[in-house]
Amino acid sequence: MENRISIQPKHHELPSHFADRLGVEYASFVSQHHKKENGQFFTPVEIATFMGSYSQFSSNSVRILDPGCGTTVLACALIEYLVHYNKNLKSIELVAYETDASLIPILEQSLSYLQVWATNKGIEITSSIYNEDFILHNADCLKEIGDLFAIPIEPFDIIISNPPYFKLPIDDKRAIAAKIVVNGHPNIYAIFMAISAKLLKENGELIFITPRSYASGGYFKVFRKFFFNLIELDNVHMFVSRKDTFNRDKVLQETVIIKGTRKKNLNPNKQIVISSSSGLKDLKESTVKSFPKKDIINLNSNENILYLPTTNREETVLNIFKNWSGNLSKYNIKISTGPVVAFRARDYISDNFENGGIQMAPLFWLHNVKQMVLEWPIVKPQKGQYISIEDKSKSILIPNKNYVLLRRFSSKDDKNRLVAAPYFCNFIRSSYIGVENKVNYIYRPDGHLERNEVVGLCALLNSSLFDVYFRIFNGNVNVSATELRSMTLPPLDIIQEIGETIILLNDFSAENTNQIVNENIESVITHE
Ligand SMILES: C[S@@+](CC[C@H](N)C(=O)[O-])C[C@H]1O[C@@H](n2cnc3c(N)ncnc32)[C@H](O)[C@@H]1O
Repeated sequence: MENRISIQPKHHELPSHFADRLGVEYASFVSQHHKKENGQFFTPVEIATFMGSYSQFSSNSVRILDPGCGTTVLACALIEYLVHYNKNLKSIELVAYETDASLIPILEQSLSYLQVWATNKGIEITSSIYNEDFILHNADCLKEIGDLFAIPIEPFDIIISNPPYFKLPIDDKRAIAAKIVVNGHPNIYAIFMAISAKLLKENGELIFITPRSYASGGYFKVFRKFFFNLIELDNVHMFVSRKDTFNRDKVLQETVIIKGTRKKNLNPNKQIVISSSSGLKDLKESTVKSFPKKDIINLNSNENILYLPTTNREETVLNIFKNWSGNLSKYNIKISTGPVVAFRARDYISDNFENGGIQMAPLFWLHNVKQMVLEWPIVKPQKGQYISIEDKSKSILIPNKNYVLLRRFSSKDDKNRLVAAPYFCNFIRSSYIGVENKVNYIYRPDGHLERNEVVGLCALLNSSLFDVYFRIFNGNVNVSATELRSMTLPPLDIIQEIGETIILLNDFSAENTNQIVNENIESVITHE
């Protein structure tokens, strides 16, 4: 491979630009499969420069780490920034990790040019390249008491990274080595972030570009707790468009850059600057907002969800939710996942009501749940609309009561992330109903949800207000019960009033219910 890359630095070329050209050239030779397998998408130089500019490091010597370094475009851009703005800087020590052996000669080319460039500026620079797995080589630092024989780790002043992104199987040795920050299927990028947080000096800086998926969701819960206990966030930059950031590699991700500082004492009132741009092209015209940390990370719950408001509307919505103190559990309401797992319950599911003498109950699937209406039956192959009530099936059925049914997944094309429909027990004469596993159901465990509560909750969940709120912390299409549990809600009498108004008007259209939610919530805000 290295023989095929014969690029030389141009006259007065910046090292980051040279690294970028080397990366583009290398990427043109390797297969799509190789890129996917290694999570190998190089950072465009404009983003690398932007990331480097987050550093505020001002001492005369600096120890930098670039884990998953590719051609070291990030380290180069950071060093250029430091050389330009930190007039005290005398010496740099750079450590870089890269598993792809065929990249090593190319990144050596990049680093030797960086060396020449820095030396010409009167700065001493040393670099070490580890052709090793960054996680396996450093996972010991995640242990409370390090392995006695482990290599002692010399911490870093700045860690800058665009790590690989892909899910690891639970039994992958990297997932096992990092089990303290792993819950379910981990994504390798979060393990890079966790280890890096540990490898920083007190007041050391961490600058990462990753998908935004760690901001919420159960899989990243343990990671968030670990990470936000060590790192004080300073800056967040959101790329709102999925298409633009890594355009040349066709990576479709909602990406986020964070800059944080390792701190012993964390400050809930620390101001965090959140900027956003659609992508790379409008980076210079980013929208910038600032929030106290306690408003964007819910520190009072175990979830540590990171909220990322980027527009004025999102900021207003975040404030509305922040001022509410209600939630499902305070109103004695629960949310659970539909217990019918189709492939395990095949023997009980049927397309027709007739099934000899056996009693049948309706079975509600994701496709039956529409905004404000439960459309049933809808005939679809492999999606039987009935489930038999037998001794053996009763454990996967739920009592016929009033419910809100909520989709657990939306599709990328859906207008709304939250899609909820009311279910009333007088719909059918049956002691039980069936709810399939891709649907959540909301209920009052020891009692009954009133009709106005069902309709009020449904209207709220389907409203544009909740949709905006949900998107502030959840960048994917999953709607987890945990997230719903931790959502604040308006006072119960407001929920009931919204429901009552809709029932009286007898207009369940999405437009009408949305308008009624807005009218009621606005009246709450003005009375506060
Ligand atoms: C998303 S790319 C980014 C490369 C470079 N940091 C940049 O910004 O252009 C991630 C890099 O990490 C390397 N990599 C993947 N798994 C790794 C691991 N476990 N340890 C070290 N490097 C790894 C890949 O080969 C790839 O070059």
